[in-house]
Amino acid sequence: MLDLYNCILYPSYMEKEIVDFLIIGSGIAGLRAAIELAPHGNILVVTKDRPAESSTGYAQGGIAVALSDEDEVGIHFEDTLKAGDGLCREDAVKILVEEGPKRILQLISWGAEFDREGTKLDFTMEAAHSRKRILHAHGDSTGKELERVLLNKVRTFQSVKKYPFALAKDLIIKGGECHGAYILKGRELIALFAKATILATGGAGQIFSRTTNPVVATGDGMAIAYRAGAVLEDMEFIQFHPTALFAPSAPQFLLSEAMRGEGAVLRNINKELFMKNYHSDAELGPRDVVSRAIISEMVRTKSNYVYLDLTHLDGEFIKNRFPRIYSTCLQYDVNIIKDLIPVSPAAHYIMGGVKTDTDGVTNIKGLYAAGEVACTGVHGANRLASNSLLEGLVFGARAGRAALNSPISNKRLELSSMELTTHSLSHNTHSLPIPVCEEIRHALRKLMWERVGIIRCEVSLSEAREKLERWSFILDKNFVARRELELKNILTVGKLITEAAGLRKGSVGAHYRSDFTQRGEGWERHITFKKEDK
Ligand code: FAD
Ligand code: SIN
Repeated sequence: MLDLYNCILYPSYMEKEIVDFLIIGSGIAGLRAAIELAPHGNILVVTKDRPAESSTGYAQGGIAVALSDEDEVGIHFEDTLKAGDGLCREDAVKILVEEGPKRILQLISWGAEFDREGTKLDFTMEAAHSRKRILHAHGDSTGKELERVLLNKVRTFQSVKKYPFALAKDLIIKGGECHGAYILKGRELIALFAKATILATGGAGQIFSRTTNPVVATGDGMAIAYRAGAVLEDMEFIQFHPTALFAPSAPQFLLSEAMRGEGAVLRNINKELFMKNYHSDAELGPRDVVSRAIISEMVRTKSNYVYLDLTHLDGEFIKNRFPRIYSTCLQYDVNIIKDLIPVSPAAHYIMGGVKTDTDGVTNIKGLYAAGEVACTGVHGANRLASNSLLEGLVFGARAGRAALNSPISNKRLELSSMELTTHSLSHNTHSLPIPVCEEIRHALRKLMWERVGIIRCEVSLSEAREKLERWSFILDKNFVARRELELKNILTVGKLITEAAGLRKGSVGAHYRSDFTQRGEGWERHITFKKEDK
């Protein structure tokens, strides 16, 4: 029986495979980890779609790094801490800004072509950076360039194999240790044994009905890790990007912050500028402030959007600087150099995730995490723009190196009949009728957007909690099709975000409560979850 994507069939038996290192996800963090490990064993990168299908591949604005003549790592450090609103882990930030320049120069040596002015690298400005610090490629296709270079580099190693369209369902846990993962690949369910498993599954934007994230971003890694007993941290901190395209027949396409960095302004539907009323840095204020300001203007003017305006800027410059955005918007009949662009905020990035130390080590032996799925604490309560690609590079490499010291052996384990029953037997799997699965997914994402979105309060969170509970029957099901497994993961992570948002009775960073607008007592604590706690 085919699932929605016609690519995963219900499995009836289980294959077993053994590798040294298993990496789940082929974005910047997973590929960088694979390159680090490549000389040291055989590596398998499993990824649930095409290898380049990831948030990384869609990244526009660029990658932050203190490499320009006017910049210093110390200033990048301070800007990151300020954006994180008091909740960054300083040791992680120090590593990010100090190791960042070396990792970027290494990428350039592997062929990364960042835009230049003459022979010098061209750095641009984004919100909350106190220096021009953002490297970009082909104008607004930075992520595509990074995926190209990393995939090319990975191809030079015979030791690295890739399984595209292979979905990690759950981790293989024995005696509290991670020995690999159950992978759905085509018709097969594979028990993949490895001495180290690195989760690099990216974010969870698809939990919300308005998001800039690609369809693969369903929080799988966080849900899989949580089911296995990993600690998750800071789940209430979701970053909402202020400017996603708002057009009836268009996707929620991101309009990079770099556009505001180049002088684009925001206007309400009466064409009035408004950002100066909300923040002294106006359009370049922190993302959460700009997103909330947009929502206030939308409510005040009874509109579903505001406008991003570039019409006062040099049209030729804009076309060259943002060629991908220009051509994509034209496909939806919006000419960004002539028209006001309708925009509204959308879920963009999750600061929380699987708790790790600065080497990607989790509380489960043999399990590592890096990139957006992980929570090193580097972003605190709010991420500084363009710091996440750098995070993937720096902490992907570190997790790869740490995995070399995994205490786990990769011998093939005998799986108990209980494990076989839970994970593989066809007669014991569940499925939902396709319309039911899609109805729940739609309702859940809408609920999360409307009740656990940019502005939260006890009333909205209680309503969300109650409705999410009604779908809890899904959590016990042994699904073996992609859409159903994603639904289970979306629900798992959605519940944790809602719970954390309810527990934090105060507003910090990207987490805003209309009923507790101050930071509140004990705001410095980090909220964590572990399955047996619940
Ligand atoms: P990803 O790049 O998302 O990769 C995750 C991988 O895991 C994918 O290959 C996915 O298919 C795979 N996967 C997921 N679940 C499973 C599963 N169950 N089994 C197997 N594989 C799985 N950040 C910046 O710093 N600068 C920017 O300019 C910028 N622009 C952005 C623009 C957009 C539109 C978006 C969405 C994000 C942007 N970000 C930007 C954020 C940044 O792109 C991401 O945070 C970063 O790329 C995450 O990298 P990652 O390697 O952790 O995950
Ligand atoms: C953007 O280009 O606006 C996205 C940058 C980021 O998410 O860091």
